[in-house]
Amino acid sequence: MTSDQVHQLNYMLSLGIALLALLGSTGAQLQVGFYAKTCPNAEIIIGEEMSRVMKVAPSLGGPLLRIFFHDCFVRGCDASLLLNHTSKSNPTEKDAGPNQFLRGFGVIDGIKAKLEKACPSTVSCADVIALIARDVVHLDKGPYWDVPTGRRDGRVSIANEALQLLPAFTANISTLKSQFAGKGLNAKDLVVLSGGHTIGNGHCFAVTNRIYNFTGRGDSSDTDPTLDKNYIARLRSKCSPAAADATKLLEMDPGSFKTFDNSYFKLVAKRRGLFQSDAALLDDPETKAHVFRLANASPDLFFQEFAVSMVNMGNVGILTGSQGEVRKHCAHVN
Ligand SMILES: *[C@@H]1O[C@H](CO)[C@@H](O)[C@H](O)[C@H]1NC(C)=O
Ligand SMILES: *[C@@H]1O[C@H](CO)[C@@H](O)[C@H](O)[C@H]1NC(C)=O
Ligand SMILES: *[C@@H]1O[C@H](CO)[C@@H](O)[C@H](O)[C@H]1NC(C)=O
Repeated sequence: MTSDQVHQLNYMLSLGIALLALLGSTGAQLQVGFYAKTCPNAEIIIGEEMSRVMKVAPSLGGPLLRIFFHDCFVRGCDASLLLNHTSKSNPTEKDAGPNQFLRGFGVIDGIKAKLEKACPSTVSCADVIALIARDVVHLDKGPYWDVPTGRRDGRVSIANEALQLLPAFTANISTLKSQFAGKGLNAKDLVVLSGGHTIGNGHCFAVTNRIYNFTGRGDSSDTDPTLDKNYIARLRSKCSPAAADATKLLEMDPGSFKTFDNSYFKLVAKRRGLFQSDAALLDDPETKAHVFRLANASPDLFFQEFAVSMVNMGNVGILTGSQGEVRKHCAHVN
């Protein structure tokens, strides 16, 4: 297929999903082009700013994509992740451990300020996150898809909920499947969305145990048996067990961490997934079959399926119509 055909197919797929969503529920639904009349340049403003950002700070791509995932898993895609705490005794999702290393909030604030100038109080922070995620993937040479919009912003954000609901990098396959199922996402979505690890970095602390001290014995052979032996040597050369190395960055998809492609699945299939939650995808017949299927197919298949799963995830727990609000500033409620 040519890339034009892929784009066209992606478009038809997302249109199909939008139609199914319309038929499937009586609640207010998202729609592609929600801002066509109220803020016609919204997606252009976001797209232009993201082109500029990704030129000067390409490493923000991974974190900005992850912000969308981390937001949707807690209270749905309502930008609750972006809220600052108003007092130290009421920490928000942003303050929770799993969100401590996210970056890119300044980019979101900058884009939102431009949108407020063009069309005050119109474009929600929840939609800004969803559109940024799409643009990041496309700018990293991945697929382009139409993002249904019309989400509203939530007014509540609780650190503990993020701790409980966000899939941990140490999670096993049964926990991963049930956390995704809890959001209406199936095993295929789990595998396909894990493919987002094709861009960005992890930290040494996420693998130190796997390569030095897996069972707590701590001798030189105490490594994760599910990890490829040659890959252990490579990881050890990057991450010493010293605490000083804990926050050193590690490419999740070495060699192509700035390119959105299907190499993540080839690595996981070769037992070179960085996180235990990547390796875990091989522990279940259904998720394992998806890993091998996507590793062995052309990247276009992953692209089509990623677009579909991103639209699925973007529908999780959304606020629409008169629910919630459209924040003026993404870091605090109006
Ligand atoms: C929100 O908190 C971040 C630090 O976590 C800070 O840089 C930013 O200025 C805050 N935003 C607002 C609007 O208070
Ligand atoms: C998976 O992890 C959960 C939570 O840590 C644990 O309760 C469960 O027993 C584990 N399941 C398997 C099959 O190891
Ligand atoms: C390995 O882990 C165990 C249990 O978490 C800990 O007590 C021990 O100090 C660690 N050993 C090394 C060499 O880090």
